[in-house]
Amino acid sequence: MSKTKVICFANNKGGSGKSTTCVNVGYEMALTGKKVLLIDGDMQMNLTLSFFDDSMTFSFVESGKTLYEGLKAEKDLAPYIVHTGYPNLDLIPSSSEMSSIEFELFPRWQREFILRKCLSHIVASGTYDFILMDAPPTLGCWVMNMLCASDELVIPVEASPWGLFGVAKMNDFVRQVQTIAPQLHVMGIAVTKADERKKYLREMLDTLHESDMPVFETIIRIDSTIEWSQDNSKPVGAYKRNSRSANEYANLAKEILNHVSR
Ligand SMILES: Nc1ncnc2c1ncn2[C@@H]1O[C@H](COP(=O)(O)OP(=O)(O)OP(=O)(O)O)[C@@H](O)[C@H]1O
Ligand SMILES: [Mg+2]
Repeated sequence: MSKTKVICFANNKGGSGKSTTCVNVGYEMALTGKKVLLIDGDMQMNLTLSFFDDSMTFSFVESGKTLYEGLKAEKDLAPYIVHTGYPNLDLIPSSSEMSSIEFELFPRWQREFILRKCLSHIVASGTYDFILMDAPPTLGCWVMNMLCASDELVIPVEASPWGLFGVAKMNDFVRQVQTIAPQLHVMGIAVTKADERKKYLREMLDTLHESDMPVFETIIRIDSTIEWSQDNSKPVGAYKRNSRSANEYANLAKEILNHVSR
């Protein structure tokens, strides 16, 4: 039985492609036969809405099948798992209640490790090859929980001047987390929403390569197929299998799989 790898997609910069990358890497990994659990850690519920419409998402909230309920009760998260409808791909849905997770965590004993504790049974069971988590655009106790529960971090960075800004901040935060969770390893920066027509892209890539952070070779280009797929609550590979975006995410998933098998 191989060990479940936990990978977090995080960046405090909003709109950097975290949710899009988490969904589509997860879908492509599942297509290769890996068993994948996605965890929606954001009150915006973008990961959940990538598979389910509003009414299904609301039904998870009504039936208490959400990450928030599991964290609040500090319980094993296995009963909160739902199937996405795609082979090998499950999800723990989010809810708007996640907006109060910081207050919820604050008075708890060992508050940085609540998620790790709640995931320990799922990880130990080896049911999944990968757990992929979508973080919100914040750097508080909750994202610290997500990183403390992770083996690997992927930082999606939008190919824009402001996209670069967040990286240094994220780097400092990761170093802080590593003092209490030394297993956390930065797998790399995934450049997203890239527009090859812009000279700025080349400059940004040079700047990133000069930094000490690893950068994935695959670049996710800006493409409206991504938005259409999200409008249809589908991963891009399920929406348009042979699209450029689906191929790019298949390549990124392959790179991530190569990294973890080293
Ligand atoms: N490759 C792409 N091409 C076109 N649009 C994209 C692409 N990737 C993401 N987007 C769009 O950019 C927006 C932000 O993407 P996404 O929600 O994945 O970022 P995020 O980092 O999760 O945001 P947040 O910080 O709010 O959680 C979304 O509207 C999404 O549809
Ligand atoms: Mg998001």
